[in-house]
Amino acid sequence: MFFRKKKASGELPAAVTIPAHVGIIMDGNGRWAKQRRLPRSAGHRAGAQNFRTITRYASRVGVKYLTVYAFSTENWSRPAEEVNALMGLFKDYLEEALRDFMDENIRVRFIGDVSAFSPELRALIHEVEEASAPKTGMVLNLAMNYGGRDELVRGAKLFAGEVKAGKREPEELTPELLSQYLYTAGQPDPDLIIRPSGEQRLSNFLLWQGAYAELVYFDILWPDFKTGDFDEAIRIYSQRQRRFGGV
Ligand code: FPP
Repeated sequence: MFFRKKKASGELPAAVTIPAHVGIIMDGNGRWAKQRRLPRSAGHRAGAQNFRTITRYASRVGVKYLTVYAFSTENWSRPAEEVNALMGLFKDYLEEALRDFMDENIRVRFIGDVSAFSPELRALIHEVEEASAPKTGMVLNLAMNYGGRDELVRGAKLFAGEVKAGKREPEELTPELLSQYLYTAGQPDPDLIIRPSGEQRLSNFLLWQGAYAELVYFDILWPDFKTGDFDEAIRIYSQRQRRFGGV
């Protein structure tokens, strides 16, 4: 596992391998705000702005799938004021920024239990998914009310329901088949998972899909994470030897 302190800058050399699927845990908004004596909501606003910049950049460098962790199943336990501020941000960004992504040929999908959100936010989620469905460029998975364990339990229930209905046999279940019951069905597993802010853990993010992902950590808070840092993560990824359990 790598830990990067220095900010990187510069162009990506042609020799690097661009990972097909990148996951990002957008962490450190609260600490960013605290350092500036601002409310935590200001950190999330800066984080949301950066989400926009990095998403656009990932699409431009040729990433095919980008999954960002915007709100976990555990984040509801934060103070109501912070949760409300985040919901407001999601609404604003779904209305504005995601239209920009559509100009960039980005298809937006949501992973997580969106039924927990307000009817207004759910309508917006539906609208964005529908409107961007014909897009052929990068797929942006927004993980909202997402938790890896929750996703696995949901998938297991879906499979069990089909067994009960006589559509499947329990013996049919394989890792490949179970993947088809997850939110990311049909998508490749993440190759690279980036976590800024200095924490080195997955925090319930893409637990199943990330089995062989390369993990790259940065000691930079998410609002300060620049496109040069994204380049650096790709450079580090390119130098890793992936063996997938082999030799
Ligand atoms: C973790 O930082 C960040 C979150 C819980 C929210 C992330 C959300 C955004 C960046 C907004 C994205 C917007 C859209 C539309 C996808 P933290 O608050 O845990 O930071 P801390 O560890 O420093 O307190």
